[in-house]
Amino acid sequence: MSGLDDLFEAAKAARENAYAPYSDFKVGAAIRTDTGQVFSGCNVENAAYPEGTCAEAGAIAAMVLAGETRIGEVVVIGDAALCTPCGGCRQKLKEFSAPDVRVHIAGLEGIKQSFTVAELLPAGFELHGNRD
Ligand code: THU
Repeated sequence: MSGLDDLFEAAKAARENAYAPYSDFKVGAAIRTDTGQVFSGCNVENAAYPEGTCAEAGAIAAMVLAGETRIGEVVVIGDAALCTPCGGCRQKLKEFSAPDVRVHIAGLEGIKQSFTVAELLPAGFELHGNRD
């Protein structure tokens, strides 16, 4: 069992509960926080398409609800060539992550590729950062 197995299984289980009747594309995400707790989420769509929410957003909401705000590692799973987080989710992940936090992208059989948050969102927006 690798160190990522539990996070992969949590993301996979979350994906099973995704509500994606419009795209027919289920996604699961799982976050391990710095304290070792795991939070997962799935995408939740609705008839007004842009109002749907991504799996990463659900996992982040669960994490924050539990009083945690420091992401240690992430797994995202979707049945695509490479189910990388959308642009908005990259910003959401950055909010709670150090630049070197790893985001592992998985298919149904396992991890395919890993990125750091900084790789996914170079020069990401910071409200009080980037000042001269
Ligand atoms: N989706 C996610 O939940 N996370 C990703 O990383 C990529 C896309 C969802 C949004 C939508 O419900 C469906 O996948 C198709 O875009």
